[in-house]
Parts: sequence; C-alpha cells; structure tokens
Amino acid sequence: MMPQWFIEEKRDGREHREADIRAWVAAVTDGSLPDYQLSAWLMAVCLRGMTAEETAVLTDAMMRSGETIAFDPALPTVDKHSTGGIGDKISIPLAPLAAAMGLAVPMISGRGLGLTGGTLDKLETIPGFRTDLSAAEFRRLTAEVGCCMIGQTDGLAPADRRMYALRDVTGTVPSIPLITASIMSKKLAEGAAGLLFDVKTGCGAFMRRREEAAALAESLLAVGRRLGRRCTALITDMDQPLGRTVGNALEVRESLEILQGSGPGDVRELTLTEAAHMGVLSGRFRDYDAAHAAAVRALDSGAAMERFRAMVRAQGGNPDAPLPEAACRRDVPAPRSGTVLRVDAEAVGRAALCLGAGRRRTDETPDPGAGISALVRQGEEVRAGEPLCRLHAASEALLEAQAEAVAAAVTLTEGPVPERTLVFATL
Ligand code: URA
Repeated sequence: MMPQWFIEEKRDGREHREADIRAWVAAVTDGSLPDYQLSAWLMAVCLRGMTAEETAVLTDAMMRSGETIAFDPALPTVDKHSTGGIGDKISIPLAPLAAAMGLAVPMISGRGLGLTGGTLDKLETIPGFRTDLSAAEFRRLTAEVGCCMIGQTDGLAPADRRMYALRDVTGTVPSIPLITASIMSKKLAEGAAGLLFDVKTGCGAFMRRREEAAALAESLLAVGRRLGRRCTALITDMDQPLGRTVGNALEVRESLEILQGSGPGDVRELTLTEAAHMGVLSGRFRDYDAAHAAAVRALDSGAAMERFRAMVRAQGGNPDAPLPEAACRRDVPAPRSGTVLRVDAEAVGRAALCLGAGRRRTDETPDPGAGISALVRQGEEVRAGEPLCRLHAASEALLEAQAEAVAAAVTLTEGPVPERTLVFATL
C-alpha cells in the first residue's frame, strides 16, 4: 500500500490490515519511510485511535523490529514496568527482592525525562555500576544472579526508538495505543514471561486522571495477554512523591534503607506489594498472601540486600563505595505549625529538576547528588521552623531559588488528615 493511502485510512478512522501494519513498521525500521509521513500517521493514530487488535499487531511488529531475548522457559522470569513518578525508586529494591524470592528479573529501564526520574540515572550513581551490558551478558546475569538491570540496547525495538523520538517533537505522545505499543514492544523483546505494570496516576504522573490510568492499564494488559504473557496491573497514587527522597543518589540511599528493613513506610509497602504480585505471576507462589509473606522474609532476613550487592558487583560496581553528594545543602523550614495534609508531587518534581536532579533535554546529564531528602509525609506533624525537607544542589544559588517553591508544595492543616491510599486498583 502507498504510504499516503495508509495515512488516509487512519485519518478517516478506518482499521488497518495486519499485513499493512507490518509493512509500515518494516519501513519505519529500515528508514525508507520519511519522517513527514510517519509524523502524519502518528497524528492520525493520536486523533482516531486503534482497535485492540491493531494495537497488538503494531506492538508485535515493533517488538520484532530488532533483537528479542529468550530465556530458558524453566526460569521464572518476571519484570515490572512503572509509568514513572516523583521519588519512584521501587525498582531498585524490588528487583533484588524478587530475586531473593527465587524469581528471575530481567529489567531494562529508562532514563528520566521531564519531571519523572529514571532508574538508570539512579543506578549509575553507584560507583562503577554498568548499565550498558550486551544482551548475552544480560541473559547470563539474570540467570546467575537472579536480577540484572540495564538500559535499552541498540538492537532492542529500533522501530520504537525512531517513533518515540518523533512523537516527542510532534505532539503525539499522549495516545494510548502508541504508548502501549512503545512500552510493550520493549518489555516483550526483553523476554520475561510475566509482567507487572505499575500505572501511576495523579499530579506527578503521566496519566493525571484515574480513568486515563485505568484505560492505559487495560490496554497494556490486553496486548500482553494477547501476546502470551501473564500480566497484572496496579493503579497507584502519584499525587504525592514516594518516600522522603527525590534525586538520583538520594533515592539509591533510600532504596538501601528499604533493603536494610527500614526506610519510609510507603516505599516498603509498595515494594512488598509489587514483589508479591511478581511472585504470583512467576507461578512460584500459590497466592498473593504466600508470596507477600516470602517477600517480607526475604527483605527482613537481609537476603534481598545480599542479592542487591551481588547484582552491583556482577555489573562492575562497588556496593561499599560512598555515593556522590551535592556540594551544598539547606533545610527548608515550616512557615507554621500543623499536620501535613498534602505534598504536591508535581511541585516537588519541578524543584528537584531545577536543583539539577533531572534533565530538560535528552542530552543533559543530571547532577547525581542533587535533589530533596528528609521530605515530610502526609499525616506528620511539624512545628513552625522545623524542616519540611533538605535541599541538595551544586550551589547556594540553586538552593535559594527553590526553597520557596518547595515550602509551597507542602500543605499544612490543623484538621484531620485522611489515610493515604497507595494502590487504587489491581487489574
Ligand atoms: N514510555 C515509553 O516507553 N513509551 C511511551 O510512549 C511512553 C512512556
């Protein structure tokens, strides 16, 4: 089919045939399709949508556009994907915890862009830690250590790489079929038999409204199941940051606290919940409660911490080396006494980005030590002048510029504060 006819078909809201979608993705991958035609089609999909069948075919074709990794089917491989949020460091304690429960976790993660941090940026603050392993090393370490955490290899889903770069600059990111195909083509190529999705919703998330998050979760599940994977999706809160830290090395430090059996309650709870769902997806545990009990044991016995240290060593890092720290720090005082009603995730994410913890463009390098720590959490009482959090940055000027914004992100009340719900739904 001529490219313009394919574009017209979607522009007019008609359904594509499987063979045409596969030919289209082949032309995206070999570069024969020009950017202007690909962009026009992306916009047509954004406006007209795709059926579940079209989305599954698109995902499958994008997954097959590059190398795919296959594991021994006897290995209980499970991964999780989070749509990203402020302070979302769950993957760092989760992968070694799941490994300590006897699962195999092949995890390919991304870098932060916009407000949400990326697992790769966090892991790379560990001195020596390598995230650029080959597919063969990735396969070997997943089997030997029980978990391996790397970045996207060049050969994995190249059609997505080209389409994502164009979507980013043509206003065509917010489309459920395109997001589904993009996330799933990479996750399916990575070879895990089970997939857990953490779809975040709230002011610090990609999907701000709960209905949007549910629609994305349903779409991810439909495609994953159609393509033969066991899948579960959680819809979780991202109106407030997770834990007390936002920023790369600071979040690794908090992840280590979780692996030591301490750390903030919400990070521990979500890590255990996700590990339990992964345990069930792997087929190693008969039900959620049995898997959750095993997760608590693996965390509190130090087995998960041992796996983390083994993973860091296997990937070239030194688990005993000090993490980078920012040159300057400053506490932000509470303007008055009260109980914390809300900590605005978006505002905290913006401040952390401005302190140097994130990147505004893909070619920027974040400051590994920058960010926010000791952040108060919903329900805590503070007195006037006590710290709401501590800021970390490379200069006093950066601290000065963000202090007010961070104080404004925290709402204090004299009245009662509702309990925070972390998981809104399990699908
Ligand atoms: N993450 C991805 O990998 N792709 C998208 O389209 C959106 C988020």
